[in-house]
Amino acid sequence: MSSTSDKMSCIRRIAPWVRAAPGARWIAMAMTGLAFINLAAASDDLALGKTIYSETCIACHGGDGAGSIPGVPDLNQKAGPLSENDNVLLQRMVDGFQSAGSPMPMPPRGGVPALTDADLKAALKYMRKQFQPTK
Ligand code: HEC
Repeated sequence: MSSTSDKMSCIRRIAPWVRAAPGARWIAMAMTGLAFINLAAASDDLALGKTIYSETCIACHGGDGAGSIPGVPDLNQKAGPLSENDNVLLQRMVDGFQSAGSPMPMPPRGGVPALTDADLKAALKYMRKQFQPTK
């Protein structure tokens, strides 16, 4: 005769778990997803770099990296800008840069403040892969 109330109290005890479980599942799935994104990050750098280059940098640096406006250096030159190391170039991309006698500066973050350091790093990786002469 007390079986109904037993059932009810059992349901009341289990209910929070039933409700929590889907949440826990989502968190577990999200964490797995994040781990996956981290692992994938290294190989996705170039893809990200390509996107950033073709959305922002291409306007001045051109599809072939040779520069589409006067004052933009040719990135395909062996002794050109890409012969500098990553740290120097990253700093110049972040702060903006104008070399002596240059008619035009490289704007800070390519003129897009929302670009992160990681975005610029990825764009640089893409530029090197795409334009830097290997010998
Ligand atoms: C508004 C035009 C413009 C845009 C957009 C632009 N750049 Fe530049 N960039 C320049 C110019 C001009 C220079 C050369 C500056 C100089 O030597 O005085 C330059 C130079 C550079 C250099 C070489 C710096 C050096 O040490 O000589 C790198 C690397 C570079 N840009 C990366 C980028 C990246 C990455 C983007 C996109 C996120 C970008 N630029 C977007 C105009 C631009």
